[in-house]
Amino acid sequence: MSSQQSKSSANRDSFASSLGILLAMTGSAVGLGNLWRFPYLVGENGGAAFIIVYLVCVVFICMPIMACEFIIGRRSQANAFGAYKKLGGNKGWKVAGLLSVLAAAFILSFYSVVGGWSIRYMLMSFGLRFTSGGGIQPESTFNTFVTGTWPPILYTLAFLLCTGVIIVAGVKNGIEKFTKTLMPVLFVLMVILAVRSMTLPGAGEGVRYLFKPDFSKFTASSAIAALGQAFFSLSLGCGTILTYASYVPRSENILSCGAKTTFLDTLFALIAGCAIMPAVFAYGISPGQGPGLVFITLPAIFAELPAGGIAAILFFVSLFLAALTSAISLLEVVIAFLIEECKMRRAAAVAVSMSVFVVLAVLCSLSQGPLSHVKLFTLNVFDLFDYVSSNVLMTFGALLAVLFVGHKLSRADILDEISSGGLHPIPAGLFKTFYFIIRWAAPVVIIGILVAGLLG
Ligand code: PHE
Repeated sequence: MSSQQSKSSANRDSFASSLGILLAMTGSAVGLGNLWRFPYLVGENGGAAFIIVYLVCVVFICMPIMACEFIIGRRSQANAFGAYKKLGGNKGWKVAGLLSVLAAAFILSFYSVVGGWSIRYMLMSFGLRFTSGGGIQPESTFNTFVTGTWPPILYTLAFLLCTGVIIVAGVKNGIEKFTKTLMPVLFVLMVILAVRSMTLPGAGEGVRYLFKPDFSKFTASSAIAALGQAFFSLSLGCGTILTYASYVPRSENILSCGAKTTFLDTLFALIAGCAIMPAVFAYGISPGQGPGLVFITLPAIFAELPAGGIAAILFFVSLFLAALTSAISLLEVVIAFLIEECKMRRAAAVAVSMSVFVVLAVLCSLSQGPLSHVKLFTLNVFDLFDYVSSNVLMTFGALLAVLFVGHKLSRADILDEISSGGLHPIPAGLFKTFYFIIRWAAPVVIIGILVAGLLG
């Protein structure tokens, strides 16, 4: 569609098929969070104990929040800021939309840096550098690379460029087309890796570790980490689900789409755990390795693994694809805002936002090395963006979304939207539970997390 048309909400671009919607949503949710953060958080917080609490958070808190974002987005058919403006009827609620756009922008800035690292590692895997003769010293190779100046910047820019190129093509022809092709590929690659890892001699201990709870390592901060991870992994509180939902046709069953997205995201996280932990145990490495797990520990394992060069290619291609499909959802939040609120054409919006993201992402990249001494509250730029977006903005964004739906929209409007005008009826008991959670339970839990996070 032409960018001129996209300015008017009557002619907004939209998704074309149910499968396209599901895979775009899943593409947003499945990302570095699943492949990079989930396995090491599981490792640090008592294995299955963490997984159990994570699942409880996902089902009882995150799914209802996701449904709220679906409701706001689809009902308004507008970008995050415009949605609150349209449905909120007063100025105050627009802040919620603005926070979401800001959260998405901050996340994309540091996310692109790790996305850049994934490109570099993917290219290295193509050059068979992760085989025994590849000449890699996993720890020093990684540290030298990320603390450098130009190489990480160039890869970060390459990642941003890939994201921008897909977004310029629009919702149907860009986002939907790419995620529909890439997500099944990602799924197959991850399953192959998980099977390979779980069939290694000595892998059983890793599988047991993942699925047998150790509550002695699980603390109060583990519970906060579980909820925070669930928010991040399901892309909540930063306008991505809301913005994608605004492109969903009125006939679509949004409740079922939200449930399937949540299921697939959790499945991907567990498959990633099964791809990583058994191999880590088979090679006798300690599981709680922090963020270096993916870029240091795994390359060390690939070098020893029979046919490890192939496993490395599969893994780093997966990491890149997962990061890319999430990054496009983050960028679309900003682009939809610029198109609809600042009346820009799509291509101009991409050009303008890209120039800002280049600066922010370069700062994040440099903060790993040359600018590592520039700190605010002991955090460098990368960690600051991560902290502010993941711990503050996303949490506030999610809180405002549930409060908005639970206390601002009428019960009848919520029921109308969630059931697609009665087309997909929802059982009365389920709706009652949902309504209670979004009005009272979810806000109390989120406020608790915010307070705990700010105090801790
Ligand atoms: N859910 C993505 C992941 O797990 C990250 C993300 C967060 C994407 C917020 C969009 C919005 O990596």
